[in-house]
Amino acid sequence: MINRILLSALCVAAIATPALANEVNVYSYREQKLIQPLFEAFTRDSGIKVNVISASSGLEQRIKTEGVNSPADVLLTVDVARLQDAIDADITQPIKSAALDKVVGSQYRDPAGNWYGISMRARVVYASKERVTQNAITYEELADPKWKGKICIRSGQHMYNNALFAAYLAKHGAAKTEEWLKGLKANLAQKPSGGDRETARDIAAGKCDIGIANTYYWALMNDKEAERKPWAAATKVILPTFQGGGTHVNLSGVVLARHAPNKANAMKLIEWLVGEHAQHMYAEMNYEYPLLAEIKVNPTIASYGTLKPDALPLAEIAKNKKAAANLVDKVGFDN
Ligand SMILES: [Fe+2]
Repeated sequence: MINRILLSALCVAAIATPALANEVNVYSYREQKLIQPLFEAFTRDSGIKVNVISASSGLEQRIKTEGVNSPADVLLTVDVARLQDAIDADITQPIKSAALDKVVGSQYRDPAGNWYGISMRARVVYASKERVTQNAITYEELADPKWKGKICIRSGQHMYNNALFAAYLAKHGAAKTEEWLKGLKANLAQKPSGGDRETARDIAAGKCDIGIANTYYWALMNDKEAERKPWAAATKVILPTFQGGGTHVNLSGVVLARHAPNKANAMKLIEWLVGEHAQHMYAEMNYEYPLLAEIKVNPTIASYGTLKPDALPLAEIAKNKKAAANLVDKVGFDN
């Protein structure tokens, strides 16, 4: 939900003193508890105050509606689909920064600079420690009939799965992807449901042997969520790869708002986000893979093995998201 009180207060402040205040306005889809410590650290490092508007949906539309008077400087979000949505809503402007280009590899940013990745997560396999002996797997193998009745997964239309399926489509083409989705569906133990944590829960309960989920959920359950620790304890994380490729990754990322009233501060924040301090926080607190090469991943994440990200640019994945969603409907994946 959008905090309307905060939003209107922010509008007044931004309109009253658009260029004078030493502040930056961030619209964010990220959980407050994840980003608040990050922004507090930025303020300590830079002296720039951060005003945050958090919401779980609709921020692109809000920025668009606010138009030239929008107080938004920066949009912080997860998933390349949402980063692409910002471009489609016409609320971005190109980010130009040699410092950013040095840290963020070309596969992790929009070719025209309209979004940049900040940190990375991988979509991996959770497997029963008890019932699954293998420690390597390909995404292609998930459609193998040997897994019949043994796979759990959340909705095929959820953005995390949509990006994975779009990557499959970019690599293999429509016909093979449709066949693979049919095979994967035929292997499901139950209708797609729940979230990534529930996939671990259902494996722990013996409903399925393997499932598909993001890297940080297992670490959160194992390290920080005592009541869900048994779900992590019953499962192991396998880093799958595409045949002849690497592991599918997605991004948390950032957009510079088209009419950013505090553009210079926004650029300072965006560059700070890929610096040592912030990248360390992303790795340790959010269990994400840092993009800054010299920052180590969290030890729990490191215990999965060495991530070899697939080389497909995230912008290519975004181009295939609609076609992937159509295929999911066509094969009745969620039915
Ligand atoms: Fe998530």
